[in-house]
Amino acid sequence: MDNVYIMDHPLIQHKISILRDKRTGTNEFRRLTEEIAVLMGYEALRDLPLENVEVETPLEKCMTPMISGKKLAVVPVLRAGLGMVNGITTLVPSARIGHIGLYRDPVTHEPHEYYCKLPDPIDQRLIVVTDPMLATGGSAVAAVDFIKQHGGKSIKCMFIIAAPEGLKRLHEAHPDVQIYVGHLDRELNEAAYICPGLGDAGDRIFGTK
Ligand code: PRP
Ligand code: URA
Repeated sequence: MDNVYIMDHPLIQHKISILRDKRTGTNEFRRLTEEIAVLMGYEALRDLPLENVEVETPLEKCMTPMISGKKLAVVPVLRAGLGMVNGITTLVPSARIGHIGLYRDPVTHEPHEYYCKLPDPIDQRLIVVTDPMLATGGSAVAAVDFIKQHGGKSIKCMFIIAAPEGLKRLHEAHPDVQIYVGHLDRELNEAAYICPGLGDAGDRIFGTK
């Protein structure tokens, strides 16, 4: 699929396996989520444009590449996407941060928006949406819809684990969006949880269950 990138780096796979383990506690879960975001961000940002600028070293002046073009905005989908933000700002400390609050109705699994605040203007920025889980895809499609309604044009989405159903739905709804997935899992269960997955990412990051 165009614009879909499934990670195969052994460090990412190793860390995801520890995340899945039900014995992994909140402290370690949070740290690993951030580390995976760094590694995935490194891959997702490999197409940032460069321009040569003049720098004077202790020996001489030279033309040397620095990142140019669009500024970055990280947009976590609340709550669980917050766990990946520091990973991206480790790579790009000047990134602005927006927030989209969505929760999934436990019965219908439909997303409900409760908060949206994005850097303004957003149209000139490269936007990186973060959420550890892409399950039915309802939340991700809604998040990208909001960003586009606010003028966002250049969008990448990062998920640590995705279900095939959600990946297909997001890609079909927004084929222009680049989608980065740490691991593509088998399927959704009848409660729309990803299997084997890692459980409820928000609860595991914030220790709420
Ligand atoms: C989780 C997850 C995604 C969403 C994925 O959030 O972080 O945002 O579910 O499911 P979907 O692809 O079927 O929409 P949740 O709604 O549990 O909210 P939380 O992060 O506040 O726990
Ligand atoms: N949200 C989660 O946190 N986990 C799932 O498996 C599905 C949705």
